[in-house]
Amino acid sequence: MTVLASALDVGGADFAAHREAMLAKLDDLDAEHAKALAGGGEKYVQRHRKRGKLLARERIELLLDPDTPFLELSPLAAWGSDYTVGASLVTGIGVVEGVECLITANDPTVRGGASNPWSLKKALRANEIAYANQLPCISLVESGGADLPSQKEIFIPGGAIFRDITRLSAAGIPTIAVVFGNSTAGGAYVPGMSDHVIMVKERAKVFLGGPPLVKMATGEESDDESLGGAEMHARTSGLADHFAVDEQDAIRQARRVVARLNHRKAYADPQVAEPPKYDPEELLGIVPGDLKIPFDPREVIARIVDVSDFDEFKPLYGASLVTGWASLHGYPVGILANAQGVLFSEESQKAAQFIQLANQRDIPLLFLHNTTGYMVGKEYEQGGIIKHGAMMINAVSNSRVPHLSVLMGASYGAGHYGMCGRAYDPRFLFAWPSAKSAVMGPQQLAGVLSIVARQSAAAKGQPYDDDADAALRAMVEQQIESESLPMFLSGRLYDDGVIDPRDTRTVLGLCLSAIHTAPYEGARGGFGIFRM
Ligand code: COA
Repeated sequence: MTVLASALDVGGADFAAHREAMLAKLDDLDAEHAKALAGGGEKYVQRHRKRGKLLARERIELLLDPDTPFLELSPLAAWGSDYTVGASLVTGIGVVEGVECLITANDPTVRGGASNPWSLKKALRANEIAYANQLPCISLVESGGADLPSQKEIFIPGGAIFRDITRLSAAGIPTIAVVFGNSTAGGAYVPGMSDHVIMVKERAKVFLGGPPLVKMATGEESDDESLGGAEMHARTSGLADHFAVDEQDAIRQARRVVARLNHRKAYADPQVAEPPKYDPEELLGIVPGDLKIPFDPREVIARIVDVSDFDEFKPLYGASLVTGWASLHGYPVGILANAQGVLFSEESQKAAQFIQLANQRDIPLLFLHNTTGYMVGKEYEQGGIIKHGAMMINAVSNSRVPHLSVLMGASYGAGHYGMCGRAYDPRFLFAWPSAKSAVMGPQQLAGVLSIVARQSAAAKGQPYDDDADAALRAMVEQQIESESLPMFLSGRLYDDGVIDPRDTRTVLGLCLSAIHTAPYEGARGGFGIFRM
């Protein structure tokens, strides 16, 4: 075994400062997570309870096997927008009757559970995760349908929700809808497209048009129950397979449905693995508050992999990227982690080779980001940095083993791409509160804009206003800085959540377990042309 040595001085001033900076960021993060938990706020929560209904997260908790974790995804969706943090929808992975399932639950306390553009993005992301990992989908439905004022953003793309449900079904991935309340108009197609449907007595309302709309359209007088009640759908239309007398009964029946799915994982669970040799608490003190200061990612690896055991690949070559093999909760992983921030030609080629090796051996890859991007400058351009970076991006793009990405620190420029950023379809991508991601650093970006503006003025023979330039630079820097922060990016669904560094091993373990529900095979060839 090759247990990593640690040089982290846990009693030192640097560690204490880094830890303090991280804890402050975690406090801010907690405050934002609390907003998602609060849903529509006290008034709407109380009203919901007075109606004798369970909250979205309470429904999920009852659905899950006792004492099993729930990996909530995208809890900060809609952060920084006009909509409530969490986007009126809860999504995540949890275990029901021993089966890992993708669970979604509308939050009816937020604008009647209506879907806004961020709820839609979040729901589509959940479907993507279910599809890639072959996780049965359970929808806990109670929604006012489309958020009507934002219909232009959601009506046309929103059709993908119903398309996804049936495509999941076609791929043999079970879909279950449990209807607790309103599920009308377009929303009626959630139970309509699902494999299994459970409806709650006198609560479920599933119709294409409610009584007022029917009156307008045809003049017919009707009521909710006869148009779309659970009893009608269970006895008459046949849309409901199961009639539940109350919410608890619906959840019990959903668990029975899952128990009978005969859904089997592609891989047996690995044996219980030994934890790292170092305390995960220490993960708080590794990343400096100032990302310009480099840190050794081996210190992170040592605190997340089994027994801190890591076999490094090409340690002496391309030292700014650490590559090597480990296991995490018993699952083999290949790790690529940035060390000094910049990616040079050597690092890029090393990464491409390493990714090919992982594909030959069917080993999932974990990308730990702290990169300012590929090296610029005459020497490096002449040395072929573009073609070498392209090699790495080619390898990442065409790799077929599952990828996991964690943004620990910087994730700038094409380095974000080469390290399997969001657009490169990692199965899961999480950020630490210390992460920052943008096309480049704020100062560099503001500086580039300033140089371009100065040159443009010179070309036109116009004077350049240095004071205005300084003000513009400061403003741009501030804007880019705020747009590169994890809560902003998470709000836009550019990750699956911002996590406490101490939870990294647990979160990745849950992801790896979910990933191993579906079979995978690395690419044996099929990469694009590697420019040599
Ligand atoms: N779009 C935007 N806002 C919506 C909404 C929707 N689809 N549905 C509900 N809301 C808002 C309400 O205006 C209300 O806002 P307010 O408290 O600021 O006045 C809040 O959400 C709660 O709605 P309320 O009607 O008080 O809640 P309820 O629990 O009694 O009823 C519904 C919930 C969903 C049954 C009811 O609001 C409804 O029928 N909404 C319209 C459903 C619809 O036709 N959707 C179109 C489908 S494509």
